[in-house]
Amino acid sequence: MFILPVPPYIPYKVEGDKIYGRGTNDAKGSIASQIMALKELRRESPDLANEVGLLYVVGEESDCSGITKANELPLTPEAFIIGEPTENKLALGHKGRLGFQVISEGVAAHSGYPELGRSAITQLVNVASVLNSIVFPGSHPILGSDTLNIGLIQGGVAANVVPASANLTVGIRIATNPMEVWETVQKIVGNPLGITLKLTSAKESVLLDTVEGFETMVAKYGTDYNCYSGKAKKKFLIGPGSILVAHTPNEYILKSDLITAVELYKKLIIRLLNPKM
Ligand SMILES: *[C@@H]1O[C@H](CO)[C@@H](O)[C@H](O)[C@H]1NC(C)=O
Ligand SMILES: [Zn+2]
Repeated sequence: MFILPVPPYIPYKVEGDKIYGRGTNDAKGSIASQIMALKELRRESPDLANEVGLLYVVGEESDCSGITKANELPLTPEAFIIGEPTENKLALGHKGRLGFQVISEGVAAHSGYPELGRSAITQLVNVASVLNSIVFPGSHPILGSDTLNIGLIQGGVAANVVPASANLTVGIRIATNPMEVWETVQKIVGNPLGITLKLTSAKESVLLDTVEGFETMVAKYGTDYNCYSGKAKKKFLIGPGSILVAHTPNEYILKSDLITAVELYKKLIIRLLNPKM
């Protein structure tokens, strides 16, 4: 299993309306405002509040381990409200994900005699440049196009050694069909000497529900909903903060957005449980 937290760690700090810190926005802001929404609802409409449960899971950024464990619980929700930064708008859908590695094996040699070896890095950067030039042919009317990111490059020993191994870790945010995208990648990369492609994960995109009276958006990221094994009749994605500051060195959440989110979560719960109110 890969455990890849979101780097780097940044400490908690409050400046004016901004609360800084790793996870403040993605996704503790959603958690805090969901808890407050339910707390207020327990006071204002206890009958409705009794119909709502909270489930928070670990491993969302890496391996779905939390939701996979939660799948063992006897939960049969009518509706799921997923909290991730959406700028307090209801997401119409979110993307899927395809993860793979490009493994390059070369032949080590003294760097003074490169002709006696075969550089795993040279082979690999050629593939990297091919990957970066791919224009995926498909698109989805709501989710748009598939986009590729080479997120990690590893390999080599030192400047005076022709490297024998290197690899890339690549993620594609899937708008269309993960296995068709994978076929496209394999076809375009082909079979260069010393290169192996290894699929590590493939998750479908998710189309979500909306209700009237909310602004909407499209999330170009994924959520753990892909790893949920049950079926909820309705599923929603909404949370305070912008995904554009998540995973950055300046991650923050606005206090005012947290307060708005509390109101929106309450409004959504009331709409779902008591459409007449
Ligand atoms: C990728 O390269 C790193 C550094 O050389 C190595 O530790 C790791 O095992 C490699 N991963 C794979 C899947 O080959
Ligand atoms: Zn994240």
